[in-house]
Amino acid sequence: MMNKSGRYNRLYDQIRQLLLKCENPVARMATICADLHHNMPKFFWTGFYLLTDQRLIVSVYQGPVACMELRRDKGVCWASIQSGETIIVPDVNQFPDHIACDARSKSEIVVPLRNGALEIMGVLDVDSTETNAFDQTDAIWLEKITDLIYNVNNR
Ligand code: SME
Repeated sequence: MMNKSGRYNRLYDQIRQLLLKCENPVARMATICADLHHNMPKFFWTGFYLLTDQRLIVSVYQGPVACMELRRDKGVCWASIQSGETIIVPDVNQFPDHIACDARSKSEIVVPLRNGALEIMGVLDVDSTETNAFDQTDAIWLEKITDLIYNVNNR
């Protein structure tokens, strides 16, 4: 069986080729969600929340129905927007302000999404039903993949 890095490496090349076919950012996000969700074994919910008029609203996703809007200044997604950093939460029950959209989610990773001018547009959020599902390997590859949305032509 291929290890996690090998799997991401293969998916990165595949996603890069797919994204070159259409410049629309939402189409690109949808393609990334579908590809990751159906090829990464522990991904239970995979999607984007986008900043719209200073609100964080759900966009394209794969997985069970999730919260449509995340209350400002609460939760992992807002924490990632505010810090500008990827956040790994090994156990969501230990994250004080975590917003539970589905009780089955046990761990989570959130990666900020930046446009070509490096402005934060939203986040990629992935949940797993296992605790401790995500580590630095996920952070590195999900950052690389998210970066393709606005920069694929330069990568
Ligand atoms: N847990 C997130 C909310 C989004 S759901 O996980 C899909 C948060 O705390 O921001």
